[in-house]
Amino acid sequence: MIQCFGLRAPGRRALQAAIAALLFAVPGHIAGQESAQPVQPPGWDAALRLPEAPDLNPDPRIVEINLEARPASVEIAPGERVEAWTYNGGLPGPLIHVNVGDRLIVHFTNKLPQPTTVHWHGLRLPIQMDGVPGYSQPEVKTGEQFTYDFVVPDAGLYWYHPHVMSAHQVGFGLYGALLVDDPAQDAKIGVDDELVLVLSDIGIDEHGHLEDPNSGGTTGMAFGREGNRVLVNGRVGTAKLMARSGAPQRWRIVNAAKSRYFSLDLDEQSFTRIGDDGGLQEYPVETKGIVLAPGERADLIVAPKGEPGTQLQFRSYVFNRGYGSVEFRPAEENLFTVGFADLPPATAPAPAPGLAQLRRQIEPLNTAGATPVNIDFTIDQLTNGSFEYGVNHVPFWKAKPFLAKPGETQIWTINNPTPWSHPFHLHGFFFQVLDDKGQPVRPMAWKDTVNVPFKEKVTVIVRFDEDRPGNWMFHCHILDHADGGLMGTVRVGTPPAGLSSTLGS
Ligand code: C2O
Ligand code: CU
Repeated sequence: MIQCFGLRAPGRRALQAAIAALLFAVPGHIAGQESAQPVQPPGWDAALRLPEAPDLNPDPRIVEINLEARPASVEIAPGERVEAWTYNGGLPGPLIHVNVGDRLIVHFTNKLPQPTTVHWHGLRLPIQMDGVPGYSQPEVKTGEQFTYDFVVPDAGLYWYHPHVMSAHQVGFGLYGALLVDDPAQDAKIGVDDELVLVLSDIGIDEHGHLEDPNSGGTTGMAFGREGNRVLVNGRVGTAKLMARSGAPQRWRIVNAAKSRYFSLDLDEQSFTRIGDDGGLQEYPVETKGIVLAPGERADLIVAPKGEPGTQLQFRSYVFNRGYGSVEFRPAEENLFTVGFADLPPATAPAPAPGLAQLRRQIEPLNTAGATPVNIDFTIDQLTNGSFEYGVNHVPFWKAKPFLAKPGETQIWTINNPTPWSHPFHLHGFFFQVLDDKGQPVRPMAWKDTVNVPFKEKVTVIVRFDEDRPGNWMFHCHILDHADGGLMGTVRVGTPPAGLSSTLGS
């Protein structure tokens, strides 16, 4: 029974994609054919494909799944297992795959030895579904359940993770990807060979156990502890994709690591970035490398080129995120390998034709009349020698909320005088990044996470939607920093009754 439901969902998507393809047919695109693009060899992505959560609901516009947080033994490399914290027994958790506008129902059960919640990173949803203890819901205690139920309003790649002791729980393996498709948009892009890549790391000690999340005390916290094993879809660099030379693939990437930045490179081959955190960006940009801070996402069209028998390496260079982050550290040379099948190379020009014309109309938020908000990200050493992060020197457990009116637009200037970079993340609302003249950074994109480099400042503009009052978190997405105080809230309007009594991390 479950299996037959499992088959139904992809069938529905294929049908919608086919309809969309008809609506957006371009010359040379044959109706009824899935794509005009040359395709990858069969099984090209078998080594990296994420399992999808089976949809238990026959309604085509409802995706209903079970999600259970529990410790489980996972294999991170051939023959190497670790007892991690997982969703549904996998690392990362299952890929949740929906269409924009679908209703998502998640029956969540906590089988961890600690309370937890599920936060839906980047989604514009009601505060009751945001997964922050106190502000959204009570903590889900061991053995308890909570049902998340909301409509998914925007296409893009999002992700889910706990919002209780985040550095600890995310660091132990609790995260997964949520892919929101827009079939009409996908038909315009015309690249069917798609892969979701969850980048992360995990700390494993010399006994093969998970590293103590408090190692190094508050000095470890001040830096932001990184795991010593880098993972792509839960695997240490042993996976191999098989490509047809020159044929485009679409890579949807999320950085789910608790502290690590990724500076990505595919043996200096260029690729095209088409999207950011909140779906497609204003126009595509060709590049040879991108940096993803913790929490950020990218949507890439990649057309690897090479002779059969050769291979490329997808790597991450060491990225300077501040004091002590680059010294004596090698690049992560092999996140995964791309090999080439013995097939004729794709003749269509790569990247996919039509990509150059891909546009998304993004209205710049109106700066006139916007309320300025200036904040500093700070670190202080207390009299007992320990470190404490804060916003304007106030750690989140002592902080009063910032205030916003429903419908208000605010311009936040975030100043970072600390020796470390901090990815600023706002719950529940997208923002746009402004340059130092107050103009939108091009290509424009909807963001929910942006890096604020050490000793620099970043300005963002945000409009707090009318319809979603509540206390919304903002914090550094280096989760040790968030748990160490670098977190605050914005109170938009009057929060729904019964919420906002306690602070959550
Ligand atoms: Cu992904 Cu409060 O964060
Ligand atoms: Cu930080």
